Amino acid sequence: MSRITAAITGVGGYVPSYILNNEELSRMVDTSDEWIMQRIGIKERRILKEKGRATSYMAAKAVKELLAKTATDPLDVQLLICCTVTPDMHFPATANIVSDKAGLANAFSFDIGAACSGFVFGLETGRRYIESGAYQKVIVAGADMMSAIVDYEDRATCPLFGDGAAAVLLEPAADGIGIMDSILAVDGSGAKHLHMHAGGSLHPPTHETIDARQHYIFQEGQAVFKMAVSKMADVSVEIMERNNLTHDDIKFLVPHQANMRIIEATARRMEINRDQVMINIEKFGNTTAATIPLCLWEYEKQLKKGDNIILASFGAGFTWGSIYLKWAYDPK
Ligand code: UT7
Repeated sequence: MSRITAAITGVGGYVPSYILNNEELSRMVDTSDEWIMQRIGIKERRILKEKGRATSYMAAKAVKELLAKTATDPLDVQLLICCTVTPDMHFPATANIVSDKAGLANAFSFDIGAACSGFVFGLETGRRYIESGAYQKVIVAGADMMSAIVDYEDRATCPLFGDGAAAVLLEPAADGIGIMDSILAVDGSGAKHLHMHAGGSLHPPTHETIDARQHYIFQEGQAVFKMAVSKMADVSVEIMERNNLTHDDIKFLVPHQANMRIIEATARRMEINRDQVMINIEKFGNTTAATIPLCLWEYEKQLKKGDNIILASFGAGFTWGSIYLKWAYDPK
């Protein structure tokens, strides 16, 4: 009997309509289009501006598009995993709110908080539910409203991030397609380099934490950059080697979109060309858990059944990982 694998059978996505470009940012902080393009490679990012809308709004939009595209009855979905570090609220889980908004009345749901590796960790988790044989329809969403935690007075972080969401459907497959292999890792000692200081149980919100601007992203850019370059490339090369893949075998690398220089370094180590790399950092920036599924959403029409795809991520935690999958369907 052939082994059950978990295959992505559809992708949905959503980005807000408001575009925050480098010109507008240059009027907010002391920066320039030239610096941001040279050091990061981002031209513009999407921002969810409307009051009363947050991460669950974007994730539900992505999930609804996914259900429509795959002609899936919302009542058939058994599990929704929402990967996010910008939940609507500390609790309940944003996944529960998304399930409600998207009509997934028979699903159970939970959040995964692995920052920029959220989608990779979520996909690995969803995959195992499918492989168990007990679940046939699992949705994994990556969704982040980074504008809610970006300090728009800090020029070192505010150009980097944007808002967005995307979701994939996982279903069982048995003919040698779907998710083949994964490598996930964390190093909790990296927390000091990239975190949000206050608002949790260690430093509950006070007037002092607000005055000290501790409810925003704190990042030591260079320390994170160095680790990201080495870990994302290491893990991508390792997954290629242990699956006997050479650069010619890879249709696409789907890297987390944090910095164009990190993406290029990973591609160089894998010895693949730029046209084998999914890139949308220039227009969406770093949407944290949403970058990788948003790439799949945008490049879906270029993918064919059997294509070898490698996902690679690095983010706060530190968290990093890589997934090797064989794409499951031709363009529809
Ligand atoms: O997705 C989560 C994981 N995060 C990442 O992967 C991000 C990793 N880090 C990075 O991408 C980069 O470190 C940054 C893009 C954040 C920063 O680039 P960098 O080349 O490491 O710059 P830097 O922090 O070393 O700063 C270089 C200079 C400094 O000025 P001085 O001290 O040399 O005079 C900064 O003050 O650039 C200055 N600078 C800016 N200048 C214009 C910092 N931000 C800006 C800015 N505009 N926005």
